[in-house]
Amino acid sequence: MTLSDAVLPAKGPASSTETRKKTVLSGVQPTGSLHLGNYVGALSVWVENQSQYNNLFCVANLHALTIPEAVNAAELRHNSRQVAALFIAAGIDPEESIIFIQSDVPAHPYLAWILGCCTPLGWLERMTQYKTKSAQAETIGSGLLNYPALQAADILLYKADFVPVGEDQTQHIEITRDIAQRFNHLFGECFPLPAPLTRASGARVMGFDDPTVKMSKSIAETRPGHAVSLLDDPDTIRKVIMRAVTDPGNETRFDYAQPGVKNLLVLYEVLSKEPRAAIEEKFAGKGYGFLKRELADLVIETLKPIQERYRQITTEPGYLDRLLAEGAGRASAIAERTLAEVRQLVGV
Ligand code: TYM
Repeated sequence: MTLSDAVLPAKGPASSTETRKKTVLSGVQPTGSLHLGNYVGALSVWVENQSQYNNLFCVANLHALTIPEAVNAAELRHNSRQVAALFIAAGIDPEESIIFIQSDVPAHPYLAWILGCCTPLGWLERMTQYKTKSAQAETIGSGLLNYPALQAADILLYKADFVPVGEDQTQHIEITRDIAQRFNHLFGECFPLPAPLTRASGARVMGFDDPTVKMSKSIAETRPGHAVSLLDDPDTIRKVIMRAVTDPGNETRFDYAQPGVKNLLVLYEVLSKEPRAAIEEKFAGKGYGFLKRELADLVIETLKPIQERYRQITTEPGYLDRLLAEGAGRASAIAERTLAEVRQLVGV
């Protein structure tokens, strides 16, 4: 389902089941600085739809252990808190939505084990992310293969209806549906089948230094021109965007632009919320330098309030700890109910 479908208002008189808010769950792996791709493809979608749904947003720190060679305990702890603070800074209201750290709710790895037992190996081996990551490593742990079962547990514990994610995660939502269906078939009806919720435009933000690859946290760690981090200062943001790889032409129409320019146009579209026709008119015949300058200004302006809130959140003593403890408690209450149902069904 794309975002434009998801935000359609309900039609006609609503029955009590129609008025029940649907549940949304999504997560981020705390393996580096969150970047503009994470914001455009995921966080901003969560914020835009927040009031329509019951929401849970999780910092998927157990997923970060799937490449153990890359783990530094102090860094992981720091990144997990930073990601949670950025959820709030980006506009997630911790009163309205539940924000929690995955490892604070032990039902996640518990259910992941049970779901892993129901997941055929062939399904796991076909995952694009597994194939890419395992090809890059000399040895891999079984956690990397089982990654989708843990993600399925994240989603199914809360019986989520929708999972707002970027395009790269849709395969993980599809396998979650397959796993849920297989569990329901083997043990009895328990899980609804979740659907991904993706932007019609902006679900796959590309790297500024190479528009043929998706903007990624891991690439950004070694290539400074690859991404804009949500906490970058204005000078850095401007530098990265002004150096973005484009082409020798001057085409700024969405349907005809080359990948590098298309990426800049799409970012401008999502962040400005202006219609495509107005954007094309604004940039027609002005050269890529003008597009880059305007986009840099827009990104700086978008990130400024997020960065200010982030600073407030992280400097107020005890605020984040209190909030994460509360989030873990609220998430656990729901997760434990589902886990009890699952245990009953499987007989453990
Ligand atoms: P992660 O941490 O790689 O990314 C977090 C979110 O950002 C989206 N995203 C992008 N969107 C557009 N363009 C990009 N270049 C881009 N890069 C990343 C991702 O699609 C994602 O929505 N396995 C997940 C984390 C996870 C999760 C979950 C997600 C764990 N449990 C349960 C949903 C539900 C991951 O590694 O995302």
